[in-house]
Amino acid sequence: MSKKLKHYLQFSNFTADEYAYLFERAALIKRKFKAYEKHHPLTDRTLALIFEKASTRTRVSFEAGMYQLGGSVVHLTTGDSQLGRAEPIEDSARVISRMVDLVMIRTFEQTKIDRFAEYSRVPVINGLTNEFHPCQIMADIFTFIEHRGSIRGKTVAWVGDGNNMANTWLQAAQLLDFTVHVSTPRGYEIDRAVAGVRNDCYRVFKDPMLACANADLVTTDVWTSMGFEAENEARKKAFADWCVDMDMMRTAKSDALFMHCLPAHRGEEVDVDVIDGPQSVVWDEAENRLHVQKALMEYLLLGQL
Ligand code: CP
Ligand code: NVA
Repeated sequence: MSKKLKHYLQFSNFTADEYAYLFERAALIKRKFKAYEKHHPLTDRTLALIFEKASTRTRVSFEAGMYQLGGSVVHLTTGDSQLGRAEPIEDSARVISRMVDLVMIRTFEQTKIDRFAEYSRVPVINGLTNEFHPCQIMADIFTFIEHRGSIRGKTVAWVGDGNNMANTWLQAAQLLDFTVHVSTPRGYEIDRAVAGVRNDCYRVFKDPMLACANADLVTTDVWTSMGFEAENEARKKAFADWCVDMDMMRTAKSDALFMHCLPAHRGEEVDVDVIDGPQSVVWDEAENRLHVQKALMEYLLLGQL
């Protein structure tokens, strides 16, 4: 197997220089897309999309993105493939990766995608696991840069669950030199060992209002992530004070942005005035999944151009 094979399994897989390249490339790809200019670097290449959990944004952005790059897509789910009938992940990886050029997987444990990557002949992209959601954070940071410039030295307030998004924000903070102010209910804290980061890239606050103080960006996510539905009722009680509202936005900087990876539950993790208000950039954030992932696929297959 080639030593040069690159996967994107967690945010920390790339260096700050690689992100600088990807953000520049995503901006170019976005400009061309908006101008209806053809950009077909991946003609005749095929992407396999494997979904073991539901998706709207990830599926549309990868599928549309690959076609827009000149390639094509094969879509698999647990229910309509042998993945749901206990074919070993290593065997699936060996077979699928002999037939396509690139694989994106959305699954449960990170160990599953790690094992797939180990046996894959082609690059593997994490489209969300229980632990990480790197493509989303890449889009979020690209969106921040578009609106406010460099994220270096800035403060991001994370209000809510210590989940896959939170872990990925921590990795990004360590790599790109900003700080995350984390506030989670008791029992739903982040686990630094999962993110594998130093303790100087984030600060923990019991009170979400304090986490938002002077933040440049306030961000949250659903109270119950996919795979944790059995905890829904307990989480609704525990998270009641972790709803991003206008009071929290007012303690942040006056030009603070609001982000949410979506899907959102208005009235739970975020108030309608915030997500549908002037500081919210959630639609740009969702759209940018398309542009950054096109840059990512191009990079994994062709390197820096
Ligand atoms: N944000 C995100 O990954 O959305 P989907 O679950 O719709 O893909
Ligand atoms: N944390 C959420 C993100 C959904 C895009 C989940 O894992 O369900």
